[in-house]
Amino acid sequence: MIEIIDLHKQFEDNKVLQGVELTIKQGETLAIIGPSGCGKSVLLKLIVGLLQPDRGSVCIEGKNINNLNKTELYEVRKLFGFLFQGAALFDSMTIEENIWLSLVENDHNLSQNKIDEIVSEKLELVGLPGIQKKKPAELSGGMKKRVGLARALVTNPQYILYDEPTTGLDPIMSDSIDELIIHLNKEINVTSIVVTHDMFSVKNVADKVSMMHNGKIYFSGTYDEVLNSNDTVIQNFVKRTVL
Ligand SMILES: Nc1ncnc2c1ncn2[C@@H]1O[C@H](COP(=O)(O)OP(=O)(O)OP(=O)(O)O)[C@@H](O)[C@H]1O
Ligand SMILES: [Mg+2]
Repeated sequence: MIEIIDLHKQFEDNKVLQGVELTIKQGETLAIIGPSGCGKSVLLKLIVGLLQPDRGSVCIEGKNINNLNKTELYEVRKLFGFLFQGAALFDSMTIEENIWLSLVENDHNLSQNKIDEIVSEKLELVGLPGIQKKKPAELSGGMKKRVGLARALVTNPQYILYDEPTTGLDPIMSDSIDELIIHLNKEINVTSIVVTHDMFSVKNVADKVSMMHNGKIYFSGTYDEVLNSNDTVIQNFVKRTVL
């Protein structure tokens, strides 16, 4: 379970998060929606301890990650897979090296054969078999995104944070990423947070949706509750993102 309590974060005088409260139960898939710049990516980075909050706390399985030492934080991070917005691959490395990186960081005793096997399994899972030797520059934006997802999955995480997993993908590929998110949730019982602008994806994958606005969680409910809400802030946001 992930519990976020009264989370505050500002950059200089830009108050981004101003008291975010959120609970994600084990096995649940939560979608987070909200306008560009409202702090969705910042929230994900706070959840894995890549950023430190100014106030408030993030508790993973009852442990406040902001009170952990480096080793303890590292142990908690191992539970997470993180698909960064824009994939964040290293351009000078091949695809397989990009994926190895998080594997080798987590387990120093893996044989090369085992690493190769895991990399090829994850690339197949995201629909990109055989591209191990390519460089990121040779791939389309959508392919890079899927490599980022393969990298997030390589350690078999219990929690997966997806930052815009379907942005820039065509509708068919978006559907297949949604199916993968559902598969990981149902078969492996991962707990997921999906930050997205794609309301189709929300409908497909999410048990619950939370909308961020003005530094807080403005609304939480089901997809239908968001879609049918009479609240003008929600309506104004959703009408631009649903056809
Ligand atoms: N490391 C940082 N240093 C300074 N400001 C930052 C930093 N990271 C994020 N911000 C600021 O925090 C605000 C929220 O950024 P964030 O990336 O979380 O938005 P977002 O909701 O993910 O937007 P989008 O939908 O466009 O991805 C923005 O104003 C951004 O400029
Ligand atoms: Mg973002």
